[in-house]
Amino acid sequence: MSAVFEVRGLVKRFEGLRAVNALDLDIPSGQITSLIGPNGAGKTTVFNMLSGITRPDAGRISLAGQDVTGLASWQMARAGVCRTFQNPRLFWNLTVRENVAIAIQQERSLLREMYALFFAGRRYVEEAGALLALVGLEDCADWPASRLSYGHMRRLEIARALAGSAKIIMVDEPVAGMNPSEVDELMRLLDTVRQRGLAVLLIEHNMRLVLNISDRVIVLSSGTKIAEGTPAEIRVDPLVIEAYLAS
Ligand SMILES: Nc1ncnc2c1ncn2[C@@H]1O[C@H](COP(=O)(O)OP(=O)(O)OP(=O)(O)O)[C@@H](O)[C@H]1O
Ligand SMILES: [Mg+2]
Repeated sequence: MSAVFEVRGLVKRFEGLRAVNALDLDIPSGQITSLIGPNGAGKTTVFNMLSGITRPDAGRISLAGQDVTGLASWQMARAGVCRTFQNPRLFWNLTVRENVAIAIQQERSLLREMYALFFAGRRYVEEAGALLALVGLEDCADWPASRLSYGHMRRLEIARALAGSAKIIMVDEPVAGMNPSEVDELMRLLDTVRQRGLAVLLIEHNMRLVLNISDRVIVLSSGTKIAEGTPAEIRVDPLVIEAYLAS
């Protein structure tokens, strides 16, 4: 498995607090890697650095072998880093299908957004249909995006990511607010993304879910990696048990 992200010695300080401390990470393609740890462990701060939202104070981030340390979020996105946000970012007044058609068109030309849609034409709309079928949204393809349930918005975000040249999809606590069947559907979708050869990086507090779906689990505590391994290894790791019991 080739590494999508190779991170060495990553540091982020907030006024004296070391939110992330000399962190090394290798995130391979075709696998689901989960980042877990108690509240305040530094998980979201890691996501913010990997997606260009926060600049690291020290360390190096490579993406597919290229140094991308300190690039802006739009540059990271163009390089293939796709991240979902707590509040989905979609074109609310366009249909579900149009949202995906735009993502395909943006990938293939430098035209932007509405202008892109105007020129997108049937071809992109048909391709969008195939991606919507993949994520199970074909029945709502013609709805405005604003009508989707929260769980379906998440799926639309992932369809848009698959339309682009994403190398990695990073999801920060995606199942908050979802019902159990929506959670199962999202997990199946992340599995589909993995099968397409992309890397998935997941932050999630639900341990049952993490241990079920992940290929590897990385455990952060106070900004430091305290364990890394398969779900079976993590389940019995004394440091992990202590970090969770102590929080
Ligand atoms: N912009 C900021 N300014 C100051 N401190 C911050 C900032 N962002 C995060 N922190 C601090 O850095 C530490 C790590 O925060 P982070 O949000 O990365 O944790 P987390 O592991 O995502 O936690 P949670 O599970 O609660 O989401 C915390 O102590 C937090 O208060
Ligand atoms: Mg967080």
